[in-house]
Amino acid sequence: MEFRHVTDPAPKAACDLLAFAVFGDPSKDAHFKAIDHLLKGALADAAKTESFDGKPQQSLTFWTHGTLPARRVLVVGLGSKTDVGAPALRDAAAQVAQIANKVSAASVAFVLPLSGAREAMAVQHTVEGVLMGMYRFNRYLTSEDAKKTPSLTTFAMITDGKGKKPTVAQAKAFDAAVTRGQAVAASVCRARDLVNEPAAAMTPTVLAAEAEAIAKKHPSVTVQVLGPKKCEQLGMGMFLAVARGSEEEPRFIHMTYKPKKKAKKKIALIGKGLTFDSGGYSLKTSQGMEDMKVDMSGAAAVISAMDAIATLGSEHEIHVVAACCENLVSGRAYKLGDILKSMDGLTVEINNTDAEGRLTLGDAITYVRTKIEPDEMFDFATLTGACMVALGPFTAGVMSDHEPLAKAWLAAAERTGEDMWRLPLNPRLRDQLKSPIADMRNTGDRFGGAITAGLFLKAFAKDTPWVHVDIAGPAAVTGARPAVPRGGTGFAVATIVDYVTHR
Ligand code: BES
Ligand code: MN
Ligand code: ZN
Repeated sequence: MEFRHVTDPAPKAACDLLAFAVFGDPSKDAHFKAIDHLLKGALADAAKTESFDGKPQQSLTFWTHGTLPARRVLVVGLGSKTDVGAPALRDAAAQVAQIANKVSAASVAFVLPLSGAREAMAVQHTVEGVLMGMYRFNRYLTSEDAKKTPSLTTFAMITDGKGKKPTVAQAKAFDAAVTRGQAVAASVCRARDLVNEPAAAMTPTVLAAEAEAIAKKHPSVTVQVLGPKKCEQLGMGMFLAVARGSEEEPRFIHMTYKPKKKAKKKIALIGKGLTFDSGGYSLKTSQGMEDMKVDMSGAAAVISAMDAIATLGSEHEIHVVAACCENLVSGRAYKLGDILKSMDGLTVEINNTDAEGRLTLGDAITYVRTKIEPDEMFDFATLTGACMVALGPFTAGVMSDHEPLAKAWLAAAERTGEDMWRLPLNPRLRDQLKSPIADMRNTGDRFGGAITAGLFLKAFAKDTPWVHVDIAGPAAVTGARPAVPRGGTGFAVATIVDYVTHR
């Protein structure tokens, strides 16, 4: 896709589809009025007959019959102007791209709905929306229709320059925003691919190969992949116990990005990498297991984010770590009542083999804390159904006892528009993890399940500044919105990239 900057007035844009957004009642919108005037009131008539009143996700397409250089006009609805954030903008741009493809348009000119200080962000989110909205996981579909290459190839964004050429600084800011949007979208789509791929194809070994492929693209990125023997030597008793039930070998992935100049901070990003979670002997129901290929969404997010991070550059040293394996049942699988020795040395009694993520993450966190010694660490995990009960299917739970780090993270989420909400790491719930015969047990009671999982991880994070992000809900969705089709969403990639590349 080619992205362009246009400063000519919108009605002059020569393209297959001229698109703009209105904030509610179209008759109050300046662009709408100007174009309607040129079309001799036909656009307003069409809006009336089609009951188009500019609500979010409404759209109106109109054939111009040669009255404008553009062949078609498309009006999309957006919410109120002050509330328009990244998600609404991405959705609007995604909708424009989807309609363009539906009407076989090759070129779009889209009037950016925000200006001034919000313009660069609007450019980035528009680019993200176009690319994220055109994402399809179609490699297993065989019909001609599903394989068709989209018609849209050029997407111009119109900023109101009254026809004046942009200044060098404006052009630079525009290009930088396009580059950011493209890099973020590419990583989001890459993460979606990894998540959507069936577990039979996306094994720990394949996931490690994906990390190696990203490292190969960037001289600034290196990768180390540890097999079961090396993990054994490191004493990763929890990770290996979970992995033991499967014939698929586990892989411990460690990617490193080094900036050109001396790094400001060392930041570690840890992802839960269960390429399939059957629950183990605490077996899930068939329905509960159906989507458990998504249980590596945390790993997919951090591995894919590394691609955008290396493309855009960060002033920090970034480490990506994912302990990848399958949680299955077999004659070798770990059992209820087993007592595991973690890499940290703490012993853990297993009272539920389906609480496996915290075991793999516990050892990954210990590895990060002792081998990398970062200034900050974050983990991303489809960890608990309880988090979805607490916050619903679209919001991630953020847990941390490090106030400044939690706030800085939530500020990044605010900028990218990813839905995240803080849950308290209430230490009173720690009692739920007591075991009479080991240092801890792996599962608490039903109430506060997202928090007890967080508290379990805290035992391994110790005093290293750390934020836990439970993405069980938003990692995959069943109901689509324009910029987020059903399936894996690539959730957290945008915020990770923003956080580590933000100045
Ligand atoms: N991978 C699941 C959590 C999950 C559930 C992710 C739904 C995405 C959608 C995790 O390993 C798990 O099974 N958690 C248990 C924990 C319980 C046994 C304490 C759960 O949430 O039921
Ligand atoms: Mn589980
Ligand atoms: Zn799991």
